[in-house]
Amino acid sequence: MAESITITDNRTGESLEIPIDNGGVDAAEWRKLLPGVWFHDPGLATTSGADSAITELDGENGILRYRGYPIEQLAQQSTFLEVSYLLIHGELPTQAQLDAWVHEITHHTFLHEKFRTRMYDAYHYDAHPMGLLTSSVAGLSTFYPEAKDIDDPDVRMKQIVRLIAKMPTMAASAHRHAMGLPYVFPDNALDYPSNFLNMMFQVGNPYEIHPALHKAMEILLILHADHEQNCSTTAARVVGSAHADPYSSVAAAAAALYGPRHGGANEAVLNMLDEIGSLDHVPAFIESVKAGEGRLMGFGHRVYKNYDPRAAIIKDAAYDVFEVTGKNPRLDIALKLEEVALSDSYFVDRKLYPNVDFYSGLIYESMGFPVEMFTVLFAIGRTPGWLAHWNEMLEQNSRIARPRQRYTGAGVRDYVAIDAR
Ligand code: CMC
Repeated sequence: MAESITITDNRTGESLEIPIDNGGVDAAEWRKLLPGVWFHDPGLATTSGADSAITELDGENGILRYRGYPIEQLAQQSTFLEVSYLLIHGELPTQAQLDAWVHEITHHTFLHEKFRTRMYDAYHYDAHPMGLLTSSVAGLSTFYPEAKDIDDPDVRMKQIVRLIAKMPTMAASAHRHAMGLPYVFPDNALDYPSNFLNMMFQVGNPYEIHPALHKAMEILLILHADHEQNCSTTAARVVGSAHADPYSSVAAAAAALYGPRHGGANEAVLNMLDEIGSLDHVPAFIESVKAGEGRLMGFGHRVYKNYDPRAAIIKDAAYDVFEVTGKNPRLDIALKLEEVALSDSYFVDRKLYPNVDFYSGLIYESMGFPVEMFTVLFAIGRTPGWLAHWNEMLEQNSRIARPRQRYTGAGVRDYVAIDAR
């Protein structure tokens, strides 16, 4: 027998049986019986907003798959651009398809000169690079007005290519601006991670990229590439559902990612490790978290109630990087924090485990990225995911996102003139 639920309106005695389909029940059925009774769900923790074939996440069992492929296999065997193709197109590319995709992306990495010079120079030297990135993504929409034609799949694909291609250029430009360094142009002879690292770090002499650091960069980008209906992807979908252009939708996603509960957590982890300072301060810090004085950043997840599989891969990758760069001095504090937290009932009972952000910052820092760039790196990685969801939503001809509310304010009252208040 098919699984279902029955809801009964106790005011009228009327009942309705709703089938459970793929783990969800259709709210349209609910509306039929209960028009004007809203399903109250702040944080949308119990609400499915999409039918999506992109990423499968089983938080109870620590499983993450892109288009059916386990994240562990993709991280070890694929490249970021191949994974981007997979997310956007739904299948792994043939060699010819991959070559064409890489060629397209490589040849869209440049920024319009006016944009590059005027945009970044308008900002103060200490502007946070996420602020620069978010506004530059939004600004790109003014350079590509044809992007508004969101009904044309070819136009959509063109902007997808542009965004994936230009993200590293914008990110590196934000960094060079902050450092007062001259911008480095994209180099079409380099692959995606190498080009980004070169634009970031080249000063004078050609920048030599160690293969272990290149591999780590590739892995980190792949691990961040998608995570189904997370906060920033939801922001992109909500803005995209109004039929805004993709630059505006991705800018909204980047703004959401900036928050310390989301992609800003990697930066917050490093700051937290600095604040703790030494191993003997770890127990007191854990006690302060348990007393509600702050959160253990890089721990906990809305969906994972088990070890985040991305955190496990990153932890391994960290050791490979440290073999080249030397051990990050904060690693011991992070390991101790993890050990203490995972044996403490506060964290165990709430199923709080390290998430993707707990160890990623240690790698980024050892590779030479300033702390402010960590969330920018997350944004580069997440861009194909945001775009895959945006594109999928438009293919499905979705409705505009427009939730309801429970009104809790004042009843009707007459306006009072200011001198009578
Ligand atoms: N440290 C201490 N306590 C925590 C933490 C934490 N990091 N995370 C959750 N809790 C507690 C929380 O206080 C609550 O306790 P109680 O039931 O006693 O009130 C319980 O665990 C459930 O927390 P919640 O806030 O209802 O959980 P949520 O699903 O709404 O929030 C989260 C998920 C990721 C925002 C949260 O765990 C958090 O703030 N973590 C720290 C920030 C972080 O690392 N974010 C990166 C997430 S992974 C990358 C990404 O997707 O962006």
